[in-house]
Amino acid sequence: MIRFDQATKRYPDGTVAVDTLELEAPSGKITVLVGPSGCGKTTSLRMINRMIEPTSGTIWLDDTDTASMPAHELRRQIGYVIQHAGLFPHRTIVDNIATVPFLLGTDKKKARARAMELLERVGLDPAFAKRYPAQLSGGQQQRVGVARALAADPPVMLMDEPFSAVDPVVRDQLQDEFLRLQGELGKTIVFVTHDIDEAIKLGDQVAVLRVGGHLAQLAAPAELLSRPVDAFVAGFVGRDRGYRALGFSSAGTIPTRDEPTVAMGESLPTGGDEWLLAVDGSGAPQGWLHLTDEPHGAVVEDPMLYRGGTLATQGGTLRSALDACLSSPSGRGVVIDESGRLVGSTTAREVLALIEAQVEGAVT
Ligand SMILES: Nc1ncnc2c1ncn2[C@@H]1O[C@H](COP(=O)(O)OP(=O)(O)OP(=O)(O)O)[C@@H](O)[C@H]1O
Ligand SMILES: [Mg+2]
Repeated sequence: MIRFDQATKRYPDGTVAVDTLELEAPSGKITVLVGPSGCGKTTSLRMINRMIEPTSGTIWLDDTDTASMPAHELRRQIGYVIQHAGLFPHRTIVDNIATVPFLLGTDKKKARARAMELLERVGLDPAFAKRYPAQLSGGQQQRVGVARALAADPPVMLMDEPFSAVDPVVRDQLQDEFLRLQGELGKTIVFVTHDIDEAIKLGDQVAVLRVGGHLAQLAAPAELLSRPVDAFVAGFVGRDRGYRALGFSSAGTIPTRDEPTVAMGESLPTGGDEWLLAVDGSGAPQGWLHLTDEPHGAVVEDPMLYRGGTLATQGGTLRSALDACLSSPSGRGVVIDESGRLVGSTTAREVLALIEAQVEGAVT
């Protein structure tokens, strides 16, 4: 646990970067500090490992006043990550194992050397180091996962915009990977970002700071979206927050109806609806076919597909259920099961009924 107790940082020129901050980052959880540029996020983070000393107040690490510990001892327990570019995409095995050391800011040569040690420790041939995960069996991949977990040492990690230098697609992958890793490791993490979407995705709790180093609100993501405390936080969490909040509600069982399909490589049937769903051999949806565009009896091939629609998973969120409907060229949202096979289709009207039922349930 990390606790800011009336922590203030006034720089020598009089700038108050952090003002009597009261905040607790619970053990094993991700606490995100978010706010506009200059609001004191980095200063707050660096006060934890004493790269910046508070002017007044105390920062506790569990039951210890951090000011009473030698800085090097403090820092041994705390990984500190600053912004990196292109950390994870398409990683080899060695780089997968080194994920956490990379995140912790260890230099790559050292991190890779340690990853090689760990590879051997879990009983894998060092020759696997340069392979990609897809080139290993499931069991070997599992051991790589164990090695990666072993590569983590400090119980606390401070991360200052670690994913901001990569493109949105890679960033999304990094975030997913990071959450998965945290699920395994359960570190105490303080994560800084200026991106509210990233904060909401990653945070167990989110602290919104305003310029001057004031804590405007500390809340779980869903609560932040539904109940911003004031106009500043409401403005900061931004538009579409009602829609984004649907990402925190399970759709339960989405009502579906059977959807006629055609398999890739088969010829188009005559008649039927204007839109027809194409599936692969295992029944996984591939895209929609617009029958009026195609000659009678044409063989279904990749270029004919409209792939714009997202897929909703049975048991997933209301957000993905609604998005599947809104993004589908046919207007019918495609619902799949956990293994990716088609369950059926639903409509925006039906998903809205689910949303309404939840709203009513919450109100009554
Ligand atoms: N060494 C310093 N001397 C004086 N003022 C400073 C110093 N370092 C930071 N500041 C000021 O303190 C305030 C908070 O800075 P900080 O770096 O903590 O903000 P931040 O929230 O991390 O911003 P960003 O999102 O731009 O990284 C800013 O007004 C900044 O100009
Ligand atoms: Mg900063």
